[in-house]
Amino acid sequence: MERHNHYSLLARNTFGIDARAEAFVEYGTVEELRQLLSGKEALPLPFLHIGAGSNLLFVSDFEGTVFHSAIKGIDVVGETEDSVCLRVGAGELWDDFVSVCVRRGWHGVENLSLIPGEVGAAAVQNIGAYGVEAKDVIGKVHAVEIRTGRRKVFLNRDCRYSYRQSIFKGEQKGKYAVTHVDFTLQKAGAFRLDYGNLRDELRKYPEVNLENVRRAVIAIREAKLPDPKVTGNAGSFFMNPVVPADVYGRLRQEYPDMPCYPADGGCVKLPAAWLIDRCGWKGKTVGRAGVHDRQALVLVNRGGASGRDIVRLSEEICRSVQEKFGIGLRPEVNFIGG
Ligand code: EPU
Repeated sequence: MERHNHYSLLARNTFGIDARAEAFVEYGTVEELRQLLSGKEALPLPFLHIGAGSNLLFVSDFEGTVFHSAIKGIDVVGETEDSVCLRVGAGELWDDFVSVCVRRGWHGVENLSLIPGEVGAAAVQNIGAYGVEAKDVIGKVHAVEIRTGRRKVFLNRDCRYSYRQSIFKGEQKGKYAVTHVDFTLQKAGAFRLDYGNLRDELRKYPEVNLENVRRAVIAIREAKLPDPKVTGNAGSFFMNPVVPADVYGRLRQEYPDMPCYPADGGCVKLPAAWLIDRCGWKGKTVGRAGVHDRQALVLVNRGGASGRDIVRLSEEICRSVQEKFGIGLRPEVNFIGG
């Protein structure tokens, strides 16, 4: 267990924002976490639990305690002829987990290759890419209640997953720390190749197998998304807006080439990247913040940007999308402080 005061969060967020936390604590086991919580009066409030900081924007210093899990482990806890159940520590890097699954021949997460972040946060955020979401493979989420230190297990349905949403981001926000996630993966199965250009990319490989799907997804992501180690960013900055069919119908008349995806309840999901691109933002720079030149949904730190620089740019983008299309964008990235 480690505690630091006045801790720089620079290496703890992929946007590369130099914010500070009044206190930062890292624990390596469930017992250490419960011990920390039993003495929580000694820790400054409020509490914030982070993963790899790949979906966060620190808008100001954090005058409280930042928690981070270093709980590791990828263990087989159940197996049938067709499937395997794995218990994974919240502090494992998501892509290390994907890599293990692909190597062992377990299907289900290959489309989620190279997503930055850690396993605990993946279950909170319901990460998704190329037609697959974490919720499709999550069996249970093991957590500890921050207030009482009690353990609790959430079944998949208890988590109320939807697009980039769960109870851990909604009504139970800030109330639980995820310690482990159980995943059910298949020993064989069909590949999901229908999203975007995945199938086209796979034509470059001699056969469709787990390794090659992973390679193709990595190649697509590397071509489009900036490497956070080089250019600060948090992936998609906004969620793709979901609009009623009549709104879509009206827009479609004016913009016949607008891409779209079906969503629940007869609604339509529109790519925010396309809307932002159409407003002319792609590749633009405003002060120390900018819009990536290969994916308009990704805002970047051009060097030394503050959280406020990024927020200002995001507000300008929202204004133009609202003016041109009458659609309000909602950030996918969580703003902290401000
Ligand atoms: N597009 C543009 N201009 C651009 C980029 C894209 O017009 O600059 C168009 C594309 O032509 C395409 C559409 O927008 O028709 C969608 O683009 P893309 O396939 O790149 O996906 P996205 O909707 O922008 C979502 C996720 C990504 C995920 C990809 C692949 C959200 C908010 N984002 O992006 O997730 O990797 O699909 O599945 O749902 C993330 O959450 O951080 C993230 C990167």
